[in-house]
Amino acid sequence: MTKKIAVLPGDGIGVEIVAEAVKLLECLRRDFGLKIEMEQALVGGAAIDATGKPLPEQTLALARQADAVLLGAVGGPKWEALDISVRPEKGLLGLRKELNLFANLRPAILYPQLASASTLKPEVVAGLDIMIVRELTGDIYFGQPRGVRTLPNGEREGFNTMVYSEPEIERIGRVAFDIARKRNKKLCSVDKANVLECTELWREVMTRLAKDYPDVALTHMYVDNAAMQLVRAPKQFDVMVTGNIFGDILSDEASMLTGSIGMLPSASLDANGKGMYEPIHGSAPDIAGKNVANPLATLLSVAMMLRYTLHEAELAARVERAVSRVLDEGCRTADIYTDGMRKVGTREMGEAVLTALKQS
Ligand code: IPM
Ligand code: MG
Repeated sequence: MTKKIAVLPGDGIGVEIVAEAVKLLECLRRDFGLKIEMEQALVGGAAIDATGKPLPEQTLALARQADAVLLGAVGGPKWEALDISVRPEKGLLGLRKELNLFANLRPAILYPQLASASTLKPEVVAGLDIMIVRELTGDIYFGQPRGVRTLPNGEREGFNTMVYSEPEIERIGRVAFDIARKRNKKLCSVDKANVLECTELWREVMTRLAKDYPDVALTHMYVDNAAMQLVRAPKQFDVMVTGNIFGDILSDEASMLTGSIGMLPSASLDANGKGMYEPIHGSAPDIAGKNVANPLATLLSVAMMLRYTLHEAELAARVERAVSRVLDEGCRTADIYTDGMRKVGTREMGEAVLTALKQS
């Protein structure tokens, strides 16, 4: 059966990198028999400009209908002065929430070819392969009450609520345990249970779940320590599971271990394997439209889509091999460039992957 993919380029470099991903999907359809159809829609700032809303009904309807969503990035200085409730980021958060995409998988893998592009010593990061499982539809991102209020004395106060229900913790926990089971069977749950009751419950639930997964070694770590350990000795980690806000921060940190945030894909899944796939980096307005952005995170997000939603593991591996091959060939966008390599632009990198796809 033909699967439908909603393509939402968004803002900034989102437009250019998604264009490369669309070429990849078209190539997979034309030359590798992938049965897909694609439809584009607006999200984020682009949608605000056209309709006044970051997530127009039409876009949400398309995303609901689709089997998978491919997203570029949202946001930019142009929309920063808008009220927080209608900023481009709300488009992204709305999609996550409305589609119930609670499980965010953010792999941090160091390609051996890029060991010298990391700011950490090669021996600290060589062979790095971490999977961060971030809860994506709860926590302080969505907790109520929230807002800015004026107190009787006239002072203003901003507030947000960190909240997790037991079922929410349990379902993300099970996703993480299942993933750990298929990898090196080590799961580190990250919390701040020494201070926050919300994450005390998190730890309690993870500990209870561990009984169902006797083959997985569960450890717990406070988030501040986890942030430190990630740069001190990142290879101690296999799978990490954490809440929305800690996962946001730790996944950016982990990305830098791999040399560039421009390399890292992500999948956001619901309970039935439907997913939204996007690079973990943002819209990078400073380099938008200049053909310098790295499209590899988005191409690798297509690989994740092939694996997790389209059940095309062979093709997923082929895309990943193609990426590895272009790195072997010395192709580097500016963010991962080191001396002696061949500097290429967004389009050239995309084309190189398409060529490699046929050979890999
Ligand atoms: C991410 C981003 C988003 C988040 C922003 C753009 C709302 O940083 O996907 O990590 O905070 O989740
Ligand atoms: Mg983030």
